[in-house]
Amino acid sequence: MYANDIYVLKIGGSVLTEKGAEKSARASEIERISGEIAAAMQEWRESSMRRMLILVHGAGSFGHPQAMKFLKSGEARDAILTHLAVCELNAMFVASLLRKGVSAIPLHPFCIFSASEDFNALNEQVARILNANAEKSERASDILVPVLHGDVIFNGDSFQILSGDRIVVHLAAHFNAKKVGVGTDKDGVLDSKGRLIESIRHTEVEKIASLRGSEHVDVTGGMLEKVRLLADLASKGINSLLFNAKRPLSVLKFLTDERLLGTEVTV
Ligand SMILES: Nc1ncnc2c1ncn2[C@@H]1O[C@H](COP(=O)(O)OP(=O)(O)OP(=O)(O)O)[C@@H](O)[C@H]1O
Ligand SMILES: [Mg+2]
Repeated sequence: MYANDIYVLKIGGSVLTEKGAEKSARASEIERISGEIAAAMQEWRESSMRRMLILVHGAGSFGHPQAMKFLKSGEARDAILTHLAVCELNAMFVASLLRKGVSAIPLHPFCIFSASEDFNALNEQVARILNANAEKSERASDILVPVLHGDVIFNGDSFQILSGDRIVVHLAAHFNAKKVGVGTDKDGVLDSKGRLIESIRHTEVEKIASLRGSEHVDVTGGMLEKVRLLADLASKGINSLLFNAKRPLSVLKFLTDERLLGTEVTV
């Protein structure tokens, strides 16, 4: 579709926020990760790599506890408060990226979605940004980077939760991503003894007994649902890497194709 390779990267709410608390951002992690993204894009430019980036972030403590309240009450008010909370985190991340010289563009699924399962409007918004890039990629700061996030969506009838993980697998498939990375607070998928599983075939997910939800409040299924979604993506021919984005330089390494510890979910 594009001459440029598309990289899709999700930074988990487990990295950007303290998931044990409510609305607790990890400002230093946000700064470090933004800096690594900026440095990687600078490297892309210096080595004339024609690449584009789609960023997605999770909600962490700026969404899961609020969404839990909404799921209990069913009230529109609680749904909107969930959206507003995750927008606060998005604003912090986008502002930090801008400070580092990345031309980040916030895209809020709530404002874009037309129906619960209809990704068309979201595709169009992201495509509009990527198309603008396809013409020019002379300077790293010129490359526009859409920044999406897990959100509440409204289908004209009811409010639903759309996880950042689902956005990742959808956009990666739609834009035929060259590389897909999902950063969390763990090195990848761990076995029952806490050892890293380096590779999982998409057909083998259900055999991994250690795969659970999240140790924190998480309304979108934690690691188990994440790996199921990535397995679905792999079944379409797109591999992905789960890695620990809390480890300094991991994001830079992912974006510049250096060797990086993690779990690969494969075809
Ligand atoms: N086998 C496993 N290996 C590694 N982590 C696991 C496993 N089973 C469950 N988990 C849990 O999954 C968590 C990561 O998923 P979680 O949804 O909390 O993070 P996230 O997706 O980064 O956050 P957010 O949903 O806010 O973006 C880990 O912190 C761990 O508690
Ligand atoms: Mg999650």
